[in-house]
Amino acid sequence: MTTPGEETKTKATPDDNVYQENIEFWEKAWSGCKTPYTQLPSLSYISRIPEELNNVGARRVLDLGCGSGWLSVYLARQGFEVVGVDVSAQAIYLANTWAAQEDLKISFDVGDVAALKYADGSFDAVVANSIFEHFPLKQAGEMSAKVHDLLKNKGTFIGCFDKVGGGAGEYYTLADGTHVYTDKGRKGMLLRRYSPEELTSLFSAFATMTSDEVDAGSLFVVATKN
Ligand SMILES: C[S@@+](CC[C@H](N)C(=O)[O-])C[C@H]1O[C@@H](n2cnc3c(N)ncnc32)[C@H](O)[C@@H]1O
Repeated sequence: MTTPGEETKTKATPDDNVYQENIEFWEKAWSGCKTPYTQLPSLSYISRIPEELNNVGARRVLDLGCGSGWLSVYLARQGFEVVGVDVSAQAIYLANTWAAQEDLKISFDVGDVAALKYADGSFDAVVANSIFEHFPLKQAGEMSAKVHDLLKNKGTFIGCFDKVGGGAGEYYTLADGTHVYTDKGRKGMLLRRYSPEELTSLFSAFATMTSDEVDAGSLFVVATKN
């Protein structure tokens, strides 16, 4: 028996249940949000995202795990053609509501990143803020491969990998280092922190990959397809 703040550390293997329970966590978390929060987050790297996109002449951008849509809205305001996808129907409802309030044409879809329906080579860029850290390593690798497929040649991936995992709360640890939370507030949520080696491996199919530290240890990643 553990109390909040204590850590439970047992080993398990990533499996479909863990993946599904993470989705259920997010659906439940979003179901409590009834009205859109229409503010941009305070992130030091926010303006770097459109800068990087403009540097490579990207126009059509996929916002992976877009949540209630702040990054999609931010980019659409600047003229990018944005598609946002998230597994939570409520998050997508909030995102659509926000976009409509600003009269922005953004295509928001409910979808699981493990089963994306977009055509290969159909995006100039894929952005993913605080997404990869919510997947076990194997699924993250499959996601990275899918991102690679979705990008046009010379396409760009931009992501922020938060410095997460550990800390207060109850969780157990999968064999790949992913934390599976068990406390009431976050039951089912997955969190993992990537080592530099794991990041390099995750983007090994890309021609280039750079990462630098932002916001107290999170990693801002830019990877380019050949
Ligand atoms: C930490 S939030 C980040 C949301 C948004 N990118 C942001 O920066 O605010 C993680 C998001 O991933 C979504 N998500 C989790 N599992 C997913 C899956 N299998 N497919 C698609 N989206 C998923 C959640 O619904 C949630 O909106």
